[in-house]
Order: sequence, then structure tokens, then C-alpha cells
Amino acid sequence: MIQKIDHLGIAVSDLDEALKLYRDTLGLEVTKTEDFGGMKIAFIAIGDTELELLQPTDPSSALAKFIEKRGEGIQHVALRVDDVEKSLEELKAKGLRVIDEKPRPGAGNATIAFFHPKSTHGVLLEICQPNS
Ligand code: CO
Repeated sequence: MIQKIDHLGIAVSDLDEALKLYRDTLGLEVTKTEDFGGMKIAFIAIGDTELELLQPTDPSSALAKFIEKRGEGIQHVALRVDDVEKSLEELKAKGLRVIDEKPRPGAGNATIAFFHPKSTHGVLLEICQPNS
């Protein structure tokens, strides 16, 4: 079951530069930074959801190609679910095209899966379940 927007993933080419905007100018709180899967990531709290700033460190990654092709900007929308495995199977059965056949570990200590934008009106959709 889908609970809320967990976070918006925003592709940036320079995380430190982006933090000048989100942390310094906007005054938002950075709750976590980590290196994960060829990315430098910062989570920014905003109300009861988050922004996930993503800087590619691997030039061959999908994220690097996204920035190359489309520039910086919103890259994915992540929906919080209570059971990622169940949601993945349900949505697959309803015809959504998956990128991840099985849930996998994601940043921010969550288990995640992505759906292809071709089956979601152009939005790269993530479902995520925080690990307790
Ligand atoms: Co995400």
C-alpha cells in the first residue's frame, strides 16, 4: 500500500554547489549524506518528506547519462510503501514495466524498486520501504 511521497530524486552535477541552494539559501536541513552506487547523495528534510540530491560519480551510470541528455533536474519520484516486495508484484501484475525485477537495497537504508518511465507517463517511479 502506498503511504506518501517518500522523496523526490533530483539529479545535480555538483552536490556541494546544490547544497548551497538547499541548505544555505533555502535553510533546509541535511539529514544524511552518503556515497552509494556510484553517486554522492544528500537527503534534505522538508516537512514529512525529503529531497534526495544525487550527484553521479560514475560517468557510465544512468544518472550521469540523464544529466548529459536532459540536464540537472527532477529525476525520479519515490513512493513510500509498507511492503516493497508485495507492491512490486502487484504493480507488475497490473502491467507496469519494471526496471528492477526484485527489490534491492537503495540509499538511505531503504529497500527499493524502480518502474520504467515508459509505463508511468514519463516519470521514473521508485517504490521504497525503509528498513527498520
Ligand atoms: Co530515490
